[in-house]
Amino acid sequence: MNLPESGTAFERIAATYDANSTNAPLSRWLRAQLWERLAALFPPDSYLLELGCGTGEDAVWLAQRGTRVLATDVSPQMLARTAQKAAQHGVAHLIETRPLDFARTESWRLPDAAFDGVYSNYGALNCTEHWSALGAVLARTVRQGGYAAFSVIGRFSLWETLWHMAHADFRIAARRWRGKSTAQIGGVTFPIYYPTARQFRKAFGAAWRLRALHGWGVFLPPSDVYGALERRPRLSRLLCALERRFARLPLCAYLADHFWIALRRTGG
Ligand SMILES: C[S@@+](CC[C@H](N)C(=O)[O-])C[C@H]1O[C@@H](n2cnc3c(N)ncnc32)[C@H](O)[C@@H]1O
Repeated sequence: MNLPESGTAFERIAATYDANSTNAPLSRWLRAQLWERLAALFPPDSYLLELGCGTGEDAVWLAQRGTRVLATDVSPQMLARTAQKAAQHGVAHLIETRPLDFARTESWRLPDAAFDGVYSNYGALNCTEHWSALGAVLARTVRQGGYAAFSVIGRFSLWETLWHMAHADFRIAARRWRGKSTAQIGGVTFPIYYPTARQFRKAFGAAWRLRALHGWGVFLPPSDVYGALERRPRLSRLLCALERRFARLPLCAYLADHFWIALRRTGG
């Protein structure tokens, strides 16, 4: 498979992704909040599809509960890490890996109505703008009554805007506002898209009904500010408490670093 630029970028950082991102204490705390939301949607005996699985952190956690996961990503290195992590945790029999590119949904060979749900976390779906095509292909492969749950980097982050304005970096403060920007990862520059929750929900189409819309990372900052916050443990604890208490309010979805959206597969 020819890798898109976003795939090449993550391919290059796959070996260091966990050390630099996944294992940061605030990142782990935030991921645990997502796991609670996934657990509320998907019973342990579900069969789930993951998009943009990265190093397999979510797939392994779900498999440890007994869930079967088809973990997909465009990056072979990321898929290899997922398989390795699954073996290390004794859940290789529950996790299958497969290369899938968001930009090539027409070539995905997924069985009809096979999955109880689909999920994707930490902004993988910001590497594409083809959310309508995704909504259509997922409507075929997720059974009626199943769920789609995604954490997507939103159009406006209050933290990011205030932080970078306070540091007189107005370009970064406003980088999401046009809905498209570029990211630089592993020395590769690639396009990144910032849908509003409304735009994303609409793109998914009539086969999906909104079940929940929450903020995720509204009191806690985007990851580039974690270092500054982790040096202030009392402030960190306060912000975690606020995040836990209030992030599920729908208004927070419009101010947070990510919105978390859960959609239910209906008829149509
Ligand atoms: C920010 S990482 C998130 C990884 C993982 N979901 C997590 O929670 O840590 C984004 C992932 O999306 C994958 N990705 C980027 N572009 C993609 C594409 N066009 N198709 C499928 N996956 C892609 C990357 O390889 C990477 O693993």
